[in-house]
Formats: sequence, C-alpha cells, structure tokens
Amino acid sequence: MNIAPLNVDLIPQTMALMDLGKPYVKARTASDYWLYATLFSTTCPTALIDDKLAGAVIAFRSQDKPEDVYIQDVMTHPDHRRRGVAQALINHVRDQAIQWHCTRIYLTSEPDNTTAQATWESLGFTNAGGDHLINGVPVITDFKGPGKHRAVYQLSL
Ligand SMILES: CC(C)(COP(=O)(O)OP(=O)(O)OC[C@H]1O[C@@H](n2cnc3c(N)ncnc32)[C@H](O)[C@@H]1OP(=O)(O)O)[C@@H](O)C(=O)NCCC(=O)NCCS
Repeated sequence: MNIAPLNVDLIPQTMALMDLGKPYVKARTASDYWLYATLFSTTCPTALIDDKLAGAVIAFRSQDKPEDVYIQDVMTHPDHRRRGVAQALINHVRDQAIQWHCTRIYLTSEPDNTTAQATWESLGFTNAGGDHLINGVPVITDFKGPGKHRAVYQLSL
C-alpha cells in the first residue's frame, strides 16, 4: 500500500470511490476535490494498491482553532476493507497533526454507523459526549445544523 497526498490526477478516481460510500459518505464536487488536492493535500492522503485507489481521507487543519484537525471523510473501497487502509490513512493525518503540534483530531459519525464507530475506537478515538443517546451512543443534537445530530469522536495528541 502506498500512501500519497491527493493530487488533481486522482480526482476522478476519488469521486468514484466516494460514490461507493453511501449513505455515510457522498462524493463532493470536482471543484471541492480540486481545492482539497491543491490547498489541503497534506491532510488528504490517498491509499494506492497496485496503482488503484483503495481509500482516501479528507481532513483539514482548522484556521479558527489551529490546534484542531478535523476529518471530513474516510472511505475504503469495499474490496479492501479490514486490511488496515483506514488505519494507515488516519495514522498519516495523525503524524502530520503531531508535527504541527496540534492537540486534537476529531470527526463526526452518523449515530447508526457502527462500523465507523468501531474503527474510530480501534484507533484510539473516544466519544466526546452528547446530550442524548442513540443505540447507546452519545450524540450531540443539531451538531451540524438543524436535524443533523452527530456522534463526535476525538483523539487527543
Ligand atoms: C469505516 C471504514 C472507513 C473502515 O475502513 P477499513 O479500511 O476497513 O478499516 P481498517 O481495516 O483500517 O480497520 C481498522 C480497525 O477498525 C475496526 N473495524 C473496521 N471495520 C470494522 C467492522 N466492519 N466491524 C468491526 N470492527 C471494524 C477493527 O478494529 C479494525 O482492525 P482489525 O481489522 O485488525 O480488527 C470503511 O468501513 C468504510 O469505508 N465504510 C464506508 C464509509 C464510511 O462509513 N466512512 C466513515 C464515515 S466518514
């Protein structure tokens, strides 16, 4: 597995990969991926296996809270799951965040995405707490706007 920053040549493959992530991940627009590849590639690693895209993470260092890195999307191709792709990608982001002296990586999950929650917990993330429980998972009401309740997971660095 080769971990490399997102680049503009990988945008079509990245959009096709993200399209496979429904309902939890949806492809954003080509303009969005151009932005990620051009301005944020340091925290947008891709995983290539035999030169094909097996996974990708889209993450950003916060400008408003520079001690934070936020992970927006994590996606592993269905043919490559449970082989450490997400782990390698998130570790790459974590190593970069440590180099920047950031203190936290965080992300949100849909309350019913138990596979994702198992992944975050296996990588050392913990639930940041919530104001109600869904299926036993602490969830913050309206975290991403009205009706968008999310479980928040964070990793202290
Ligand atoms: C969640 C997702 C990114 C995990 O990717 P992955 O590359 O398969 O994960 P990894 O192989 O790195 O798994 C690391 C650990 O997470 C846990 N894990 C991952 N998938 C799991 C599953 N289906 N059930 C239980 N635990 C799981 C395990 O502890 C695993 O380690 P192990 O295989 O040695 O037991 C992948 O399932 C996916 O792309 N899902 C669809 C998109 C999505 O929901 N993304 C998250 C929302 S942003």
